[in-house]
Amino acid sequence: MSEIQKKPVQIVDTILRDAHQSLIATRMTTEEMLPIVPKLDEVGYKAVECWGGATFDAALRFLKEDPWDRLRKFRDGFKKTKLQMLFRGQNILGYKPYPDDVVTYFVQKSVANGIDIIRIFDCLNDLRNLETAVKAAKKEGAEAQIALSYTLGDAYTLDYWKDIAKRIEDMGADSICIKDMAGLLVPTAATELVTALKSSTKLPIELHTHYTSGVASMTYMKAVEAGCDIIDTAISPFALGTSQPATEVMVQAFMGTPYDTGFDLNLLAEIADYFRPIRDKYLENGTLNPKNMGVNIKTLQYQVPGGMLSNLTSQLAQMHAEDKFYEVLEEVPRVRKDMGEPPLVTPSSQIVGTQAVMNVITGERYKTVPQETKDILSGKYGQTVKPFNPEVVKKCIGDVEPITCRPADLLEDGLPAFEEAVAPYKKQDEDVLTYALFPQVALDYFKYRDAQETGVDAKVADTENKAYPV
Ligand code: CO
Repeated sequence: MSEIQKKPVQIVDTILRDAHQSLIATRMTTEEMLPIVPKLDEVGYKAVECWGGATFDAALRFLKEDPWDRLRKFRDGFKKTKLQMLFRGQNILGYKPYPDDVVTYFVQKSVANGIDIIRIFDCLNDLRNLETAVKAAKKEGAEAQIALSYTLGDAYTLDYWKDIAKRIEDMGADSICIKDMAGLLVPTAATELVTALKSSTKLPIELHTHYTSGVASMTYMKAVEAGCDIIDTAISPFALGTSQPATEVMVQAFMGTPYDTGFDLNLLAEIADYFRPIRDKYLENGTLNPKNMGVNIKTLQYQVPGGMLSNLTSQLAQMHAEDKFYEVLEEVPRVRKDMGEPPLVTPSSQIVGTQAVMNVITGERYKTVPQETKDILSGKYGQTVKPFNPEVVKKCIGDVEPITCRPADLLEDGLPAFEEAVAPYKKQDEDVLTYALFPQVALDYFKYRDAQETGVDAKVADTENKAYPV
């Protein structure tokens, strides 16, 4: 009898980043995370995802915490586990493109403060927007992973994914992630996609999905059987719903198969025991909305990420136009087509979503056009897979000639001006980056920090409940 070749699936736990970003609007505090770090460090994860995405913004804005300080504390606590962050390509952790010098410096400081793996993605899958971050990550000795924003549409054929995977390998990235922020990848499609990617690249393949549409753990099973090397899961109290499949469930499901992780289920149970009361606290105070915990099949029907659905709901509620929800949902794919059919992930998800709301509320398409819509149609976010709708371009930006080069090529260096602005408050080099990303929020935080040190006028953290997109 021939020995079956063992190929343990590797696991990245998202508990310290995406899990709480998806379920409790990124509100978990450093204090709540640190006590469990020694146990998380013993599991054998490929990495823990613990930084980036909305964690940076939410820490400063709502928790009055320095995100850099959180990262340094993780680095002190995790002795053997790699720390992973999510990075929005040229948009860094923000919502618009930044000059290369800011991107490079941010990568340098992220690695210097403890990050080992940087997952870099672009909301349009325009690889030119990833070049600077990938180059900087390699220079700093970090693992550069490129994440493809997974989406559906005429342009997104298996050949498209195979071709882009090959180009990623040529760029010098260390691994590829399929980032399925909306939970659109169904099990049989996962088999096809992973098989196709494996035929075009030798790089390790990681799959990141959300449980929103209810198929995620089946999708992982199929993907791993087709050769997927790494999956992203969340420890059970912060799993399922709009978060990832549960770590323990996947570990159990692969037990005794060639993909057996070898993880200790008792240790995972202890970690789950630690997070359960934290989950209960957020459930009781209303931060964890039970609506986000079930299956939301609308995400498959309308192909929009769960975070975007909740953003649209709150935008409409502010305008007292909740009754327009389904009209807006039907407008989203039309706007997306007008804008070249991009994936819907930060910041394209906000741009498409806001424009769809405007089109419905005003009763005339593209009557009101935010600056971000004009920018995307001017090519300032990069190139989309499909061309823009020329009539919409004309209505929104007139005869302005869209740019076709890498957008950051047109941006002047940004650091000198940011350094100057932050000088009166600067306590560490990293403050300039905090300011560059979120100027107003950073200033509020710096003033709060000064006040804490002098003991006057210490404001309490803003606990307003705000949903974050993926
Ligand atoms: Co995610």
